[in-house]
Amino acid sequence: MPSFIQTSSAALLLLLAVMLGGSNAQLSPTFYASTCPNLNSVVTTALGQAVQSDIRAGAKIIRAHFHDCMVDGCDGSVLLDDDAANGIDSEKDEAPNQTLDYDIVDTIKTAVENACPGVVSCADILALASQIGVALAGGPTWQVPLGRRDSRTANAAGTSGIPSPFDSLDQQQQKFRDVQLDDSTDLVALSGAHTFGRARCGTFSFRIGTDPNLDPTFSDVLAQICQGGANTLTNLDTSTPDDFDRNYYTNLQNNRGLLKTDQDLFSTNGSSTVAVVNRFAGSQTQFFDAFVQSMIKLGNLSPLTGTNGEVRTNCRRIN
Ligand code: HEM
Repeated sequence: MPSFIQTSSAALLLLLAVMLGGSNAQLSPTFYASTCPNLNSVVTTALGQAVQSDIRAGAKIIRAHFHDCMVDGCDGSVLLDDDAANGIDSEKDEAPNQTLDYDIVDTIKTAVENACPGVVSCADILALASQIGVALAGGPTWQVPLGRRDSRTANAAGTSGIPSPFDSLDQQQQKFRDVQLDDSTDLVALSGAHTFGRARCGTFSFRIGTDPNLDPTFSDVLAQICQGGANTLTNLDTSTPDDFDRNYYTNLQNNRGLLKTDQDLFSTNGSSTVAVVNRFAGSQTQFFDAFVQSMIKLGNLSPLTGTNGEVRTNCRRIN
């Protein structure tokens, strides 16, 4: 073969490898097809039962997945307990993670371990159960790329990269850019997860009676609710609290976003996020399509694959 052909095919292969590497080709929806063929139905049953007794179960899982992926990628690090002997300073003690629910993850993990011992990582369980939780609430279904492995370390300091409800829009956007998520479409689409679940008064009560972008009638309702104190919970989506739909965005158009960070996506004059909110408010299909794409992007953040990390048998500790 002439050497120029050899050189150009080698260059092509290299280019292909770089392109595939960049999109995390190691992850695949069929990763467990032979090692845990019933994985989908096992997780659907376990999460379905959890939702029966706690309507927030799906919301709790997707929030845990987001907080996992924002800190050094989707590697299950957020699930590790403190473990001084192994040098683990848990991410759980940090402000954004103090209100995550780890018991639901354990419940699903136990069901998966019973069906396929030692095979499915905790990071993958978060990714897959996120999709199932969204679908159970009426949202889109998609093929979840799988094959992540679990970290043997945690990064407590790294939790500062998780968006806070007290951040400005600029700060939220910076945190998304820092992990190579887009600060307009990904930010607005993924924030749409606030179409279900709850938040504590302590995360938004500073807006009551002071924020010009908070509907006065809604503000009065919130003032009543928050007489219960900073830990009182209320719906993130005031119109259809437990349904995965586009109403999160129509709420924003009506100054009925619960968190200031939600409302800022729509109320910040001149921001590129405004048009995206309007687009999703006007079309559930456009919201769902974008949400799926952004969820796959989120799930692809720096996964451990191959022989890196491990498959934890207990999500709370390394093997
Ligand atoms: C973009 C900036 C974001 C901010 C500032 C933010 C902030 C918050 C806050 C403050 C809460 C309430 C926590 C509490 O009261 O303890 C919350 C709940 C929630 N967040 Fe976010 N979040 C953001 C993005 C996301 C993303 C990208 C997702 C998922 C893809 C997500 C999913 C959820 C869900 C489902 C809940 C309700 C959980 C439950 O009911 O327990 N959030 N978020």
